[in-house]
Order: sequence, then structure tokens, then C-alpha cells
Amino acid sequence: SAIYPHRRRSIPTVALNPRRPPPSRARPIPARLRLAREKTMQHPRGVAGLTPGGVSVWTRDAIVRLPPDEYRAISALIDEAGARSARAQGLPAPITSTVRPSALPKKTGTRRQSDDEHLRSPTPPLIHPHAPQDRLLEDQRLYLACSDATRPRGGPSVLVGILKVGPKRLFVAKPSGGMEEMEPCCVLDFYVHESSQRGGWGSLLFDTFLRREDRHPARLAYDRPSPKLVAFMAKHHNLRAFVKQNNNFVVFDEYWSEEVRNFGVARARNG
Ligand code: ACO
Repeated sequence: SAIYPHRRRSIPTVALNPRRPPPSRARPIPARLRLAREKTMQHPRGVAGLTPGGVSVWTRDAIVRLPPDEYRAISALIDEAGARSARAQGLPAPITSTVRPSALPKKTGTRRQSDDEHLRSPTPPLIHPHAPQDRLLEDQRLYLACSDATRPRGGPSVLVGILKVGPKRLFVAKPSGGMEEMEPCCVLDFYVHESSQRGGWGSLLFDTFLRREDRHPARLAYDRPSPKLVAFMAKHHNLRAFVKQNNNFVVFDEYWSEEVRNFGVARARNG
């Protein structure tokens, strides 16, 4: 059903390939590939902090502090969701992924740090200043919605959707004319697994974010909203009108309306 994306309708049968090496010699499939083969975003391992049937919020620091096996599980899930989100939006590359060792500074002349080594270090690693755009930044929050099949202790972890938010400095054309420089909180990436869309998960993610951070939907900027997000904002928040911007962000006309003007005035400059 829409609420349980982890349930597969049928188990596919695979014809035996006589040239396939015997199981004992076959190399184990890495967890990342195993996940990609699944039709849903799930990982066999549990991650303490994920909320079964609900939403949890994550920062870069919270993720890098996880024990190595939980870090690998949550990374695989977030990267899979990021890749699927990009595909759903027709983007050439993901705009959400987690913190990976390749994004960490490497010491010259020393052996490359392994995944687990930097996670065991007592101080959290720094992110390379030129890390690609899709990595979770220090000032961003990632909301994760999990199916109620998720078991944070023993596993599995079943991810249903993601919402990435954070501040961005923007020059925005106003409906009354002229430009304004501002740094609003932005909706940067928003995705619900295809099997669960139109089932209320998007609203659960978005409302959890609004409530937790005390935000007004009209006092946010939306990065390249897709037609589905435009429909979502119209339906759930009655937000429709906006001035087309050169930077592809959408700021709804209500941003400047008297009614919501004073809502989070401080945050409009510090997202
Ligand atoms: N076609 C048109 N509108 C849609 C569709 C669709 N296929 N799917 C959802 N919506 C809108 C509609 O308004 C719908 O209401 P309706 O069913 O009465 O028409 C409403 O969303 C449903 O609300 P929820 O069930 O709470 O939202 P959902 O769980 O579907 O999540 C989301 C919304 C995140 C936009 C989801 O549809 C999705 O992941 N879409 C694909 C990826 C995407 O486009 N993400 C937004 C990118 S832009 C950005 O990230 C800034």
C-alpha cells in the first residue's frame, strides 16, 4: 500500500546462470549496491535516532558522529534518496547526499583515511571547503521520514522521504519592482518515494519542519520547485503567485504581505 513502500508485491524469479561462480567464491554485494537493487529505500541495519512512522531531523554533525555501521546505513539511504530525487526532478546530478570521506580533507604524504578511521577520531572531521554542492552543509537540516517498519535497534531502516532546508543568500526581484538582498531559509530538496507520494508523507515532513523551526511557508524560498511542489504549495498552503527570478528560486508574493511580514523577521535574514 502507499504507506508501506517496503512491501514488495511479488518476488521476482531469477533463471540460474550456469556460468555464474559458485556462491562460496562469489564476491559479496556491497551494501550500497544491494540497496540500489531494491525498489525501495531500505537498509538492513537499524539507525538509532530514526523515528518509525515519523520524522527525525539530522545535521551533518549528528550524522558523522554515528557509529560506523549506522553511518554507512544512513549514508546509503540518504544517497539513494538524493539520487532518486534528482531523477524525479530531471536534474543532472543529486543535490542531496551525505558526508563522505571523499569530501574530507586528506593529509598529504599519509595513507588515505579509511571510512572508519575518521569516524573513530574524537573530534568531528572538517568538510573540505570545495566539497561538492550536494553534501550536507553545517547550517543545513535534513528531515527524514521513515516507514513504521523501521526498527532503529536491529534494523531494517525504511526511508520514505527527505526534506533538506538551510539558509542561502539571494537577490530577489520583488512583486512591487526592484531587487532585495536577503538570506531566507530555503527548501533545497524535497522528495517522497514514488510508491508513497500523495499519501500525506510530504505534508508530514513539511509540517514537522515548519513546527520545529517555527517557520511560515510564505517566508521561505524554494529552489527550482517542480510542478508537483507547486501543486503541493497551492493545495496545502494556498501559495500560488510569485515573480519569476533569474536564480530559479521561488519566493511567493505573500513573503512581502502585511499578514506574514512580521513572522520570523529575524530568520528572514538568518535562515
Ligand atoms: N501531480 C500533481 N501534484 C502532486 C503530485 C503529482 N503527481 N504528487 C503530489 N502532488 C501535490 C498535490 O497537490 C497533492 O494533492 P492532491 O493529491 O490532492 O492533488 C499533494 O501534493 C499531496 O500532498 P502529500 O501527499 O502530502 O505530498 P507527497 O507525499 O506527494 O509529497 C512531493 C510531495 C515531495 C512534492 C512529492 O510529490 C515528490 O517527491 N515529488 C517528486 C519530487 C519532487 O518534485 N520534489 C520537489 C522538488 S522541488 C524542491 O525540492 C525545492
